[in-house]
Amino acid sequence: MTYAQIHQTSINSPETFWAEQARALSWYKQPQTIIGKDANGVDRWFVDGELNTCYLALDVHVEAGRGDTTAMIYDSPVADKKHTYSYTQMRDEVAQLAGVLADLGVEKGDTVLIYMPMIPQAVFAMLACARLGAIHSVVFGGFASNELAVRIDDAAPKVILSASCGLEPGKQIPYKPLLDAAIDAASHKPQHTVIFQREQLQASLDRDTDKSWLDLLEKAQPADCVPVLATDPLYILYTSGTTGIPKGILRDNGGHAVAMKYSMQAIYDIAPGEVFWAASDVGWVVGHSYIVYAPLIHGCTTVLYEGKPVGTPDAGAFWRVIEEYRVKALFAAPTAFRAIKKQDPGAALAGNYNLDSLQTLFVAGERLDPPTYHWLHERFNVPVIDHWWQTETGWAIAANLVGIECLPTKPGSACKPSPGFDVRILDDDGNELRAGEQGHIAVKLPLPPSCLPGIWNDFPRFKHYYLDPFPGFYLSGDGGYLDEDGYLFVLGRTDDVINIAGHRLSTGRMEEVVGSHDAVAECAVVGVNDELKGQLPVGFVLLKDGVAIESATLSVQVEQLVRQEIGAIACLKQIHIVTRLPKTRSGKILRNVMRQIMNAEDYTVPSTIDDPASLEEIKTLAE
Ligand code: COA
Ligand code: AMP
Repeated sequence: MTYAQIHQTSINSPETFWAEQARALSWYKQPQTIIGKDANGVDRWFVDGELNTCYLALDVHVEAGRGDTTAMIYDSPVADKKHTYSYTQMRDEVAQLAGVLADLGVEKGDTVLIYMPMIPQAVFAMLACARLGAIHSVVFGGFASNELAVRIDDAAPKVILSASCGLEPGKQIPYKPLLDAAIDAASHKPQHTVIFQREQLQASLDRDTDKSWLDLLEKAQPADCVPVLATDPLYILYTSGTTGIPKGILRDNGGHAVAMKYSMQAIYDIAPGEVFWAASDVGWVVGHSYIVYAPLIHGCTTVLYEGKPVGTPDAGAFWRVIEEYRVKALFAAPTAFRAIKKQDPGAALAGNYNLDSLQTLFVAGERLDPPTYHWLHERFNVPVIDHWWQTETGWAIAANLVGIECLPTKPGSACKPSPGFDVRILDDDGNELRAGEQGHIAVKLPLPPSCLPGIWNDFPRFKHYYLDPFPGFYLSGDGGYLDEDGYLFVLGRTDDVINIAGHRLSTGRMEEVVGSHDAVAECAVVGVNDELKGQLPVGFVLLKDGVAIESATLSVQVEQLVRQEIGAIACLKQIHIVTRLPKTRSGKILRNVMRQIMNAEDYTVPSTIDDPASLEEIKTLAE
């Protein structure tokens, strides 16, 4: 069947379509009801199905006689380590760790927070939770204590799993002091903190709740898989929203497993046993879906790479990994390729490696800018595929589905909607726009399997942000258009979320931090285009009366504050002191117009502007 036929079937007969995909999994109890509604009136997939995600990711392959197949390759240029795990070894590691959690009292439905670097134990931890039917919440290792504290309070974990340190090029990040500070700042206190000691740095386990990972592991007995309902949560993953409070995106077990399995074949054209590498971090949704769950559920070999595209040791690192493990498909953020391109414009280092195994290059996390597309396309003789997705969906909403039919590429476009996603472009009043017209990208309900059924602890927020604006649709928060051929062009967020080096961050949260500086009366933070990182935040500050401070000094102090409160990945390094902020007459700061001016884009001055002259200062700064 062609892509068009498959997509059409998935939209016209979603139950038949997804029931068929669900049959590819080994359920404990096959679902009879393919789609139903929950108490909130939200569509839920496979409501009466029973399964265990860890069983599908590991045990099933061992039971099928594929236990010796390589499940995961850990490659760490920063730790100078490489290790390979077969499916049997992974199953045993995970079952033993699940035994540790069970000994600590973790049961089905409990939450466990994971704050770990890119080491195999982070993957074991996720799967061990899934094995017990516990809900994990992984927090990216680059977040500072305060962000961790907010997540601890919201997820209320019984246990926190962490490690002694992360390794960034040339430096260690001691995690334990960050974790201790976060627990001190949080109102919720976990019962146990289990620390994996890395050989590079030993953490002192000096609190009553501290436990040594390896000590507990020695004493534990392997734990078996606990059956859960398809609609039971597998994980909570916090992502940035418009406000400073992160949203705990909920992912269920059944829909997620079905979509993960389906996408490996349909989107990535990967067969069991082949090597798939998502060069992301387990702290992000790409890491959850395509380092851990999808490749393992599909019986592939996944690569866990603890390193960078450049500097570990050079811009040939990606090509080395592809050659060494015979990677068939690489998935990375465009910013990673821009970093490589900057250091090795002719991709000379790629010439040192045999890249024959590579069939496709996938990018996501931010729009693939056409220059980077052309650079990749011209140098590597494989399809370069931009695909668009969000933490909320867990898999691509739009892609070139090479496993079904490789469509012609249009640079700048994420290609066409994935099966199950009925993508529409709406104006502010919810009217559907025609081809070529820009508007809100929305998805007609029902959303396909794996998409969020809600926000942890906050259904009203889910309803208010995603469902209420356009009844019958999911609002993505991205703007864009569909062209005459049905290709989707994603142009950027329509809210206060920005994307720095493929990391989704909230400018609202940054404004809270900037606003907490003693000198600041009011501020706005907007995302400004950056050649390497896609976007960088820039702050505009109105000083308190009587305060005298230079922009440069304030920038240094604010950068420090943001590092401390959010983390170094936020990269807020530039602050401009202004005499007023452009606002509407009702007092709303015109962040969008400020962003457009800073990016030298066309903009329209809204008729509601309070003082048009306030834009002059921003224009001068943009020059
Ligand atoms: N733990 C602790 N600190 C971290 C971290 C982590 N996991 N990840 C990043 N940081 C820190 C870095 O050490 C750096 O700190 P510094 O300012 O003190 O040097 C800061 O956060 C910014 O890091 P990074 O965003 O990695 O920028 P960079 O300039 O060091 O590297 C790139 C630039 C493009 C190479 C890098 O951003 C990159 O590899 N991006 C791809 C990201 C990605 O894969 N995203 C997944 C989306 S699917
Ligand atoms: P995250 O939830 O961290 O995966 O970030 C999701 C956001 O990243 C989306 O809402 C988009 O703004 C952006 N994004 C991800 N992939 C793409 C893409 N291929 N093209 C354009 N924007 C993207």
